[in-house]
Amino acid sequence: MSDTPSNVDMPEVSWTALGAAWTRAREGDRPDALFTDPLAAHFITAVGGEAPYIKAGEQARADADADPLANPFTAMGDYVALRTRWLDDLLRDAAADGIRQVVLLAAGLDTRAYRLDWPAGLRLFELDLPELVSFKENVLRAHDARPACDRIAVSFDLRDGWSTALRTAGFDPTRPTVWLAEGLLHYLTPEDNQAMLDDITALSAPGSQLATDHIEADMMGGSHAPTADSTGLKYDRLVKGGPGTTPATWLERSGWQAEEHAVADCAVRHGRPIPPLLDPDVPGSVKDGAVFLSARWNGPRTTAA
Ligand SMILES: C[S@@+](CC[C@H](N)C(=O)[O-])C[C@H]1O[C@@H](n2cnc3c(N)ncnc32)[C@H](O)[C@@H]1O
Repeated sequence: MSDTPSNVDMPEVSWTALGAAWTRAREGDRPDALFTDPLAAHFITAVGGEAPYIKAGEQARADADADPLANPFTAMGDYVALRTRWLDDLLRDAAADGIRQVVLLAAGLDTRAYRLDWPAGLRLFELDLPELVSFKENVLRAHDARPACDRIAVSFDLRDGWSTALRTAGFDPTRPTVWLAEGLLHYLTPEDNQAMLDDITALSAPGSQLATDHIEADMMGGSHAPTADSTGLKYDRLVKGGPGTTPATWLERSGWQAEEHAVADCAVRHGRPIPPLLDPDVPGSVKDGAVFLSARWNGPRTTAA
C-alpha cells in the first residue's frame, strides 16, 4: 500500500501529479525562475505535508548535500521545470501561429489555462481521471481561480473510449489542435498508448501538433526503485511500459513527423544543470533515459500510384 492521506481519495497514479505541482510551486521561489505557477502551492497545501511526494520534496530541500540520486527530486533535478518551460514555449508559438484549440491529456494539476497569456477564442480541454479532476476543481474553486481562456475540464480514463466524450464536451476535430501528453506515456501500456495515439490522430485536423516526453522504465526501476519509491508510491505497479518502441518511431509509424529534443540541450539553453539521473558524468545515471518530443500532423500520407 502507498501512504496516501485519507483527506483526498485518488488512485495511486494520480498522486504523481503532486510531484510535478511541487516542483512547479518551488520553481517560482528562484530568482531565475523559468515560469511561475502560483496556484500549484494551493494543491500542495490541500493534501497536507504527509502526502506522497511532498515529504520527499521537503527532504530534498533539507539534504542539499546528500547523494543526488537518493531522492527523486534531486535525481530529476530541473527535469519537470525544463519540460514545463519547453511546453509553455511550444504552446505560445502555436498560439502565435493561429492554433486556438489545446488538449492536455492527463493534465494533472497543470495550471496553464490560468498562468499563460492566451489569445481570444482559445479553448483548452483538460482530461484526467475523475478523482483527480474533482480534487483539482475543488481547490481551484476554493481559491476563486479564473482561467485566461475558455477552459473545459473533463473526467476521462484515457484507456477507455475518451474521444467520443471529448467531442461531446465541445472539441472540434476540424480545427488544428495542440495535444500535450506530459508525464503520461510510461503510465500506459504499449497497447493503450497506441489506442490513445490512434484516437488523437483520428481527431487531428492537418496542422495539428503533439508534444510529449518519455521517461524510460529504467529511471524508476532496478537500482533506482528505492529512489522512486521514496515518493511514497510504488512505481513497479505504476509504470506500464510506454509506447513499446522509441517514442519518435511510435509517432512516425502513425504518420506524424516527429522531432526529438534532448533534455540536456534544453538545460544548457536555460543555464540549468543536466538532471543528475540523466547526466552521463554522474555514476549510476541512465543516459538517454528521457526525451522531449514534438510532432506535426499534415494529414494521412498518400501513396504514389
Ligand atoms: C505525472 S502526472 C502528470 C500530470 C501533468 N501532465 C503534469 O505534467 O503536471 C500523471 C497524470 O496522468 C494521469 N493519468 C494516468 N493514467 C491515466 C488514465 N488512464 N487516464 C487519464 N489520466 C491518467 C494521472 O491522474 C496524473 O494526473
